[in-house]
Amino acid sequence: MVDNSGRGNQLQKANINWFPGHMRLSQRLLKENISRVDLIVELIDARIPCSSRNPFFKDITSGNKARVVVMSKGDLADCRFGEAWIRHIENTERVRALAVDCKNAKSVKNVIDVLKEVLSNFSKKRALGRLMRAMIVGIPNVGKSTLINSLAKKSKARVENRPGVTRTAQWIHLDSGLDLLDTPGTLPSKFENPEVGLNLAYTGAIKDTIYDVEYVAMNLIEFLSANHSKQVKSRFGVDFSEFPRPIEKLEAFGRLRGMLLKKGEIDLNRAALSLLEEYRSGRLGRITLEIP
Ligand code: G4P
Repeated sequence: MVDNSGRGNQLQKANINWFPGHMRLSQRLLKENISRVDLIVELIDARIPCSSRNPFFKDITSGNKARVVVMSKGDLADCRFGEAWIRHIENTERVRALAVDCKNAKSVKNVIDVLKEVLSNFSKKRALGRLMRAMIVGIPNVGKSTLINSLAKKSKARVENRPGVTRTAQWIHLDSGLDLLDTPGTLPSKFENPEVGLNLAYTGAIKDTIYDVEYVAMNLIEFLSANHSKQVKSRFGVDFSEFPRPIEKLEAFGRLRGMLLKKGEIDLNRAALSLLEEYRSGRLGRITLEIP
């Protein structure tokens, strides 16, 4: 049997932090390029609209730039909260906000329309025929490359499900007279609230290799069985809340998936990665982790 003495009986929220050196360089790159653009497009994850924001992006946006907040992965988030989040962001920050499925052509077309509208309201330069420039910023894995690829309708930026793939800034020229600057994803240097680190780990914004995946998956399964028991039961046919301890829930999931080691022990690491993948891919359903 799995050693469950202590760990997994009660989960204490440990702080997950990840700020590799290249992110400091990325922040410098963003600051250097800010004067070259008219508009900042901040991508956030519709499933975690608070945790996926890096306060740095707000700090570098001076008053003379237009700003749009795009909630990506709208297709993975709970429809009930999308509009409420948009209203919340628009009312509190006086910016345009919208949700998008970066892989969906129609949804992406809407982004272009909004960007153009915001730019024409913000600046008369557009009326003078000058090319407009926008900078796309966001945390790793939030969908920047996917959105840009969809906007450009051809693969100019590499898309990969590994946080932090885009390391340098690159310009993408769109036919519509708009130039986009793709930038590397950066996270805050420190998360004050441990929940933020967990949310970023659940959604794949932080590399699996830098945190304890079993610990994160135990937190996730606790959250899901407490808040989304119906969806979990319909997907797995098991009510995990019947298992009192987090480790027992993860063991039950691993057993269900036949993830066994020698002598019938459960491969908790595989089970943890599999559960995280279930959530990230949306196979568990559209689940928003932060409610406005
Ligand atoms: P980044 O540049 O911000 O680092 O993120 P990137 O575009 O590389 O996207 C990271 C992953 O998120 C990719 O998964 C991508 O397909 C997925 N993704 C991005 N936006 C959306 C969205 O709006 N909806 C959904 N459902 N997924 C989105 P991947 O598994 O690497 O890509 P793929 O196998 O799907 O091509």
